[in-house]
Amino acid sequence: ALERTLSIIKPDAAERNLVGRILSRFEENGFRIVAMKMLRLNQAQAEGFYAEHQGKEFFAPLVEYMMSAPIVVLVLEKENAIKDYRTLIGTTNPETAAEGTIRKEFAESQRRNSVHGSDSAESAAREIAYFFVESEISPR
Ligand code: CMP
Repeated sequence: ALERTLSIIKPDAAERNLVGRILSRFEENGFRIVAMKMLRLNQAQAEGFYAEHQGKEFFAPLVEYMMSAPIVVLVLEKENAIKDYRTLIGTTNPETAAEGTIRKEFAESQRRNSVHGSDSAESAAREIAYFFVESEISPR
């Protein structure tokens, strides 16, 4: 089915001028950019986005990192976008990510892992609505 997923180009990647190269990877792999903006998260926004991880030991440093520099948030559209995007970015930890994945190529660590992607249809719907109203998402 034609799906939408939420993508974030995270602070470590934006800081290292990797935005253009990562956007190219999305487009080269068949994803259509249907919405995009750059913003800087405040603490409440970062905590709200990652609310499901509240209580985990990596939560506070994750929130701190996500506030540390601007990010690019995007809605990507493609057949089977949610699963295919996760394949394209690779596992959370770049050390275990497959050759050719975005995290293998660009990520610095398990936290500073360059990109985010929705992990299910339910997360995608929640995460897209967290950053965009429907009128900001381009009709095809
Ligand atoms: P993301 O896919 O955005 O979802 C949750 C984020 O938390 C993850 O990418 C990493 O940035 C971070 N994260 C997940 N697990 C760990 C961990 N074990 N240690 C540090 N950071 C983590």
